[in-house]
Amino acid sequence: MLEPGRYIKDILRQAPGTAVTAHGWVKTRRDSKGVHFVQLNDGSCFQDLQVVIEAGTLAEAVLKQVTTGACIRVEGDLVESPAAGQAVELRARAIHIFGEADPATYPLQKKGHTMEFLREIAHLRVRSNTFGAVFRVRNALSFAIHRFFQERGFLYVHTPIITTSDAEGAGAMFGVTTLDLMNLPRIAQGPQAGQVDFSQDFFGKPAHLTVSGQLEAEIFALAFANVYTFGPTFRAENSNTPRHLAEFWMIEPEMAFCDLAGNMRLAEEFLKYIIQYVMEHCLPDLEFFNKRIDDTVLQTLEHVATSDFAHITYTEAISLLEKAPRTWEFPVYWGADLQSEHERYLTEETFRRPVIVTDYPREIKAFYMRLNDDGRTVRAMDVLAPRIGEIIGGSQREERYDVLRDKIRQQGLDERAYWWYLELRKYGSAPHAGFGLGLERMLMYLTGMKNIRDVIPFPRTPGYAEF
Ligand code: 4AD
Ligand code: MG
Repeated sequence: MLEPGRYIKDILRQAPGTAVTAHGWVKTRRDSKGVHFVQLNDGSCFQDLQVVIEAGTLAEAVLKQVTTGACIRVEGDLVESPAAGQAVELRARAIHIFGEADPATYPLQKKGHTMEFLREIAHLRVRSNTFGAVFRVRNALSFAIHRFFQERGFLYVHTPIITTSDAEGAGAMFGVTTLDLMNLPRIAQGPQAGQVDFSQDFFGKPAHLTVSGQLEAEIFALAFANVYTFGPTFRAENSNTPRHLAEFWMIEPEMAFCDLAGNMRLAEEFLKYIIQYVMEHCLPDLEFFNKRIDDTVLQTLEHVATSDFAHITYTEAISLLEKAPRTWEFPVYWGADLQSEHERYLTEETFRRPVIVTDYPREIKAFYMRLNDDGRTVRAMDVLAPRIGEIIGGSQREERYDVLRDKIRQQGLDERAYWWYLELRKYGSAPHAGFGLGLERMLMYLTGMKNIRDVIPFPRTPGYAEF
């Protein structure tokens, strides 16, 4: 096992003259007269360790195997580096080859691969500069999220992945079954004759992969006040876009004794905190994204971390969009859902910063959102970010039993599936609110990566579930 102090990020900080052993994968090798230069990386930081091999130091057979993609161990001494951008380099005394990589077939050659091609070699793309940076940022972001909530006393709760209720009421769920699809048991008699007999299935009724942990998080909020979830969620919507995944990670805080205003404050504080954390801990990675992926990343993040978010109601947003001097692909009218083009116009052109849109029409939002006194809108909030559009969705929850029951019925949902959710409104109900942040949408924002499939290790999308 690699001990702390032996990662390349630690080796790079040691003084010239120190004897070290480095392990890693060869990024590139360059031969010049009498000396070979090897860029070695072990994923611990953006920077490579430059290994210098003087001619004659190693046996020819070993040297031949030091090629791009090979995994090696190098023993040697750190020396001051004459090259710019690095303090030290490693003068090799001995090299051990753990695993060679035939240059004739190794798929991850130096440069110029498209993101689409790299996606097909997701088992190797993690060794590239870009994906090294993506997954270090993903790691730091995940830690920052936990730290933010833990510092504020929120309880981390694990909500189920297999559920029998549809948290969003939108029907975009993957089924979970052990029934033999070639030989389904059918109900023999009665009004449901001919339908699949789920009483014979594993859970005795239809079950699904969760689309959100929110409803179960609400159970916990009504016992622990402030809680959050952080887990995988699944959506079987057939959206083949650069912003949708069938499997993605969501962070869902839920707060009792909190209204929409408190929810908006927390969301803004949260986003600023995690941006600042990543800027502090992953600066070389962000600088790489700024240089190679999107030259506005750093400027935008600094701007967001220091400016106040704009607040508008849905009704105000619609009237701004109606007055906008442009034609929309999707028509704008009161009652229409905001599309990506509308969200981006508001954040990138009208306000030039994140915008929180509140109080959407009840018809286009989930059943659990609190009904406003106008009877037409609900206490919803979407946080929209430049470039990405919706990054957070949330609301104050309907805490009144009768109103909630009526909304469940009106949306054509089966109220028996929500019996426990309704009971929370019968026994010790309280005003409460929460939101969900899509981890990958946030990562797109932090890195400037254009496709959500390139900020998750192994993307699942319609027609694709390799690895
Ligand atoms: O707006 P959504 O659907 O809200 C909920 O699921 C609520 N239960 C959250 C809550 O109030 N606790 O999803 C929340 C966020 C979106 O804003 C978006 O960032 C992300 O999840 N998201 C997706 N990310 C990737 N692929 C998809 N298919 C996504 N759908 C939603
Ligand atoms: Mg939403």
